[in-house]
Amino acid sequence: MMERVPARELTRQELEEQKAYADAVRSLGTGPQTYCIVTYGCQMNERDSETLAGLFEAMGLTAADCRENADLVLFNTCCVRDNAQRRALGNVTWLKELKKTKPHLLVAVCGCMMQQPGMGEQILRQYPFVDLAFGTANLHRLPELLYRCVTEERRVIEVLQDDRSAIPEELPAVRSSAISAYVTIMYGCNNFCSYCIVPYVRGRERSRDSQRVLSEIRELRASGIREVMLLGQNVNSYGLDRKGELSFAQLLAEADKIGVPRLRFMTSHPKDISDELIGVMAQAKTVCHSLHLPAQHGSNRILAAMNRRYTKERYLDIVSRLRQAVPDIALSTDLIVGFPGETEEDFEETCDLVRTVGFDSAFTFIYSPRVGTPAAAMKDQVPAEVSSARIQKLIELQKESTRQRLRRQIGQVQRVLADSPSRRSPHEISGKNEYNVTVNFPADPSLIGQFVSVRIVDAKESTLTGERTEEGM
Ligand code: SAH
Ligand code: SF4
Ligand code: F3S
Repeated sequence: MMERVPARELTRQELEEQKAYADAVRSLGTGPQTYCIVTYGCQMNERDSETLAGLFEAMGLTAADCRENADLVLFNTCCVRDNAQRRALGNVTWLKELKKTKPHLLVAVCGCMMQQPGMGEQILRQYPFVDLAFGTANLHRLPELLYRCVTEERRVIEVLQDDRSAIPEELPAVRSSAISAYVTIMYGCNNFCSYCIVPYVRGRERSRDSQRVLSEIRELRASGIREVMLLGQNVNSYGLDRKGELSFAQLLAEADKIGVPRLRFMTSHPKDISDELIGVMAQAKTVCHSLHLPAQHGSNRILAAMNRRYTKERYLDIVSRLRQAVPDIALSTDLIVGFPGETEEDFEETCDLVRTVGFDSAFTFIYSPRVGTPAAAMKDQVPAEVSSARIQKLIELQKESTRQRLRRQIGQVQRVLADSPSRRSPHEISGKNEYNVTVNFPADPSLIGQFVSVRIVDAKESTLTGERTEEGM
């Protein structure tokens, strides 16, 4: 049975100490003046980067317009797949060159990659130009670590291997958007899917206090935020680690009442999708009719080896219950090909799942062995060329499904949250519809940040195009 660790918030004393260090850095005058954060990985990391930016600003630093102009560059890394990690390390190494022409440049590394066993030592030995490194468990200690780095003129590497890491409450944050906001509701993961490194680098599940989550959403609403995305590696097990806490379905129902125009959440593990949650999705006024429900695979044998704890039949049953309750729901998923022991028949089961469900979109990944996870030690690793051929086939299959799902939306009048200038044309702007699909349409950029009524006229490979209409507002 999984050990349940009670959630612990940062103590007043810890917060005060770090505030004092932030003030001390601010008054130094000799430290870095500008910062740039480069973020890899998932939305949880993006949200952490907003907190890191908040801490830098509390220390008196300002954001640089690009990394070449920054006095301090911080890489917030991901290690979920080998290419994510290689990309991060490659960019860190690139800074080594920049440092030759700019000796005062500080290079810092944090995030999931740092939490892997031995990573601290590896940075010490192999990356002598890295000045500061820390993990996900001690991100709130940035002010102290930077203070020591600057005043003692030495490298500071601090990684804590602690499953009981605190929940970082009451830290400052610089939100990256005034339109949509991420709200982390829980940290860590207890699921230990056999291929996945996240539980090792992010620790055990820790839910935030629901009252704190709800007041954060109220504040965001008051500040004019139009969309909130609730975040967790497995939001469906929200609250289980806190006695008497709301369930995720209850939290979502409470959040709905606050009245931010749009609510989204990710990620949901299929094993924990409850009828209560489906009911809330159907009845809520602000919860978008779109759900990311990673299936990972279609073969029951592989699903068992992955430790996913559901079968293909159960997954299909959840999909049909969702569609019964919310007929227009858009479903997206994650799929892995080339898991150890995957045969051609197993892979065909994944293709069959894609054809049967008809996902609106899918992220497809080639299995990447992660040291320390059970799957990395399994026999029958699939050769790279076999995995490549399979993923190509899967991508083609999904493209067809996406095309069909998008074509069905032609002619609809949709409520689009305009969020940016369009990448296609200076006369167009771009936004997301209810189903999380990008819609491009001709309009004045002054509408960015607003809900706009758009008639869908065409479907591209993964986006829609439309025109403004007075209808439907
Ligand atoms: N907590 C989320 C996803 C976290 S990681 C969930 O359970 O759905 C995002 C995705 O990366 C996963 O859904 C999975 O498809 C993929 N992934 C994780 N580990 C991987 C690995 N070792 N190789 C390939 N893909 C992996
Ligand atoms: Fe990884 Fe599974 Fe946890 Fe998702 S649920 S983060 S895939 S261990
Ligand atoms: Fe990557 Fe860490 Fe997210 S490993 S996917 S950034 S939780």
